[in-house]
Amino acid sequence: MANLQEKKQREQWGSRLGFVLAASGSAIGLGNLWKFPYMAGENGGGAFVLIYLVLLVIVGFTLMLAELTLGRYTQLNAIGAYKKVREKWAWVGALGVLAGFMILAFYSVVGGWVINYVFKAVTGAFNTTDMGVLGGMFGSMITNPIEPLIFHAIFMALTLGIVIGGVKNGIEKYAKILMPALFIMLLIIMVRSLTLPGAMEGVRFFLAPDFSKITGAVVLAALGQVFFSLSLGMGCMITYGSYISKDEDLLQSSLAVPLLDTGAALIAGLAILPAVFAFGFDPAGGPGLVFITLPAVFSQLPLGGLFGVAFFILVLFAALTSAISLLEVVVAYVVDEWKWTRKKATFIIAGIIFALGVPASLSIGPWSEFHILPGKGVFDTLDFVASQILLPVGGILLSIFLGWVLGMDNAIKEATNDGKLRFPLAGTWSILIKYVAPIAITVVFVKGLLDAFGITF
Ligand code: PFF
Repeated sequence: MANLQEKKQREQWGSRLGFVLAASGSAIGLGNLWKFPYMAGENGGGAFVLIYLVLLVIVGFTLMLAELTLGRYTQLNAIGAYKKVREKWAWVGALGVLAGFMILAFYSVVGGWVINYVFKAVTGAFNTTDMGVLGGMFGSMITNPIEPLIFHAIFMALTLGIVIGGVKNGIEKYAKILMPALFIMLLIIMVRSLTLPGAMEGVRFFLAPDFSKITGAVVLAALGQVFFSLSLGMGCMITYGSYISKDEDLLQSSLAVPLLDTGAALIAGLAILPAVFAFGFDPAGGPGLVFITLPAVFSQLPLGGLFGVAFFILVLFAALTSAISLLEVVVAYVVDEWKWTRKKATFIIAGIIFALGVPASLSIGPWSEFHILPGKGVFDTLDFVASQILLPVGGILLSIFLGWVLGMDNAIKEATNDGKLRFPLAGTWSILIKYVAPIAITVVFVKGLLDAFGITF
């Protein structure tokens, strides 16, 4: 105990920064750089962004603090945390583990695309603004039956290697340099994009909400994106919260992480959508949007080739720090509950997730005719079920659990380090957790699902 105390005091500042870096590393990833811009593009631009921001305030900050609090209170993984407080709730944690499993399967496929683009950038493959050429290059990459699988395997192997090595410290060391570098690069790309002729139309599209575009399905998509982007609803932040020491400031972290994450998403949107309009691409172009648009922007930058290489390497790093947290949630569970060794758990789970990613990848190319849900192949189904069903349901249950099972008195006590920290919004947080969040998420979820499947009353 004495040892722990001593360590805490010596490492306090360093570890707080380390935690914010690790948690932002999990939050900031393909969700911000790849998914957010194309989701905004597909779902009406500004309307989607506005709803995203509203939900960020009501649900994002609220549940971030909730997960971190539950994690630190119990000092356990996603399932263990629920189980410790109330045995019967363990299945809620299990739902999260399932979501992590499904997300990583398609996430790793996209991570593979990024690695492929690092190589493409190195060989100077895309020095053009021609939509036909760039679209064709992306299309032929993702529809190829073999090539994306090789890169998916490489991405999974990198993730596995880091999780097995338990490189938490190493990651923190690199994250300190690479995360700010990513922000700076994004800002440069944003400025270049915004100064392209015709860019303002894209800015308008991204920032001016057109309320006629808002449907239940759009709101659910934005909600799913808040969960996905902040790594919420599946116990990832419970797991990360369990590593925070008892004298750190959870309140500050719960503000900082969502703010950094949203900053990254908005900058990514402003880096990509104005360029989409400037080059005459289609904002609803889907998952290829970033891969097709950014090479065109790079070709308009001095030393664009080099810039492209550096940028895709940073995106890869951001994707890996998120993938690690996804794998970690599943591994932590198996190690704790099934008593497997860490090595065995990581290898077997990574293998199974890789295997699930194979049909996901093929569903974009050779198997594109095969649908599981209406209009959705394996890739889209994994994304939809995890992001728009499992994560929101996880969020509803988490808030009910905290508000009504653990109790807000206990939660506030934990969040304020036994009353040592000032928390002027404690009352508001209670109301948000007990009533607003579960009701709002449920309403959006039910209405959104009905809309998404075209069911009306
Ligand atoms: N938040 C990550 C991103 O935006 O790329 C993805 C993610 C990581 C989701 C971890 C969920 C999670 F638990």
